[in-house]
Amino acid sequence: MSLHILVVHGANLDLLGTREPEVYGSVTLGQIRESIEERAAAGGHRITWIQSNHEGELVDAIGRAVGRVDGILINPGAFTHTSVAIRDALLAVAVPTIEVHLSNIHAREEFRKKSLIADVVTAQVSGLGAAGTVLALGALIDLLQDRELSEPGGGRDG
Ligand code: DQA
Repeated sequence: MSLHILVVHGANLDLLGTREPEVYGSVTLGQIRESIEERAAAGGHRITWIQSNHEGELVDAIGRAVGRVDGILINPGAFTHTSVAIRDALLAVAVPTIEVHLSNIHAREEFRKKSLIADVVTAQVSGLGAAGTVLALGALIDLLQDRELSEPGGGRDG
C-alpha cells in the first residue's frame, strides 16, 4: 500500500547544521529531507514536506492535509511548547502522528518538558538526533501498514 505522509518542521529547524550543534548535531535539514525522501521512495510512499518559521503556515499546511494524508511526522521546534493552534490542527486531521525532537526535551529546561501535542500524538521520539526523524518515519510507515492489514479499507482511501 502506497502511503502519503506529511512531514512538518517548525521554527529554526531550517538552521540545523549550524544552530547549537552541541544540542542538535551537525546534520542539516536538507540532509534529513534527503534521507526521508529516500526512505519513503524505497517503499513507494509519497512525502509532502514543509518547514516554516511561521506558526500560521504550519497550521495551514496541516489543515490542508485533512482527508489527504495517511500519517504525519512533526517536529514543531519551539511551537511544541506554545502552540494550541498546531495541536488543534493535528486533532482536525486525526491520523496517526509521530512527534519528533532531535534533543531530549525532558532533559532540558523546564519550559521544554511540556509538549502541547504529546497527548494527542501516537508516539514521541526525543533525543535520538537526526536519525530519530528517519527512524520515526520507518515506525510510522510500519504502523500504518499494520493498521491497513488489520482493518483493510479502514484507511484514508476507504
Ligand atoms: C526541538 C526542541 C525544542 O525545544 C526547540 O525549541 C527546537 C528543537 C528538538 O528537535 O529538539 O527548536 O524541537
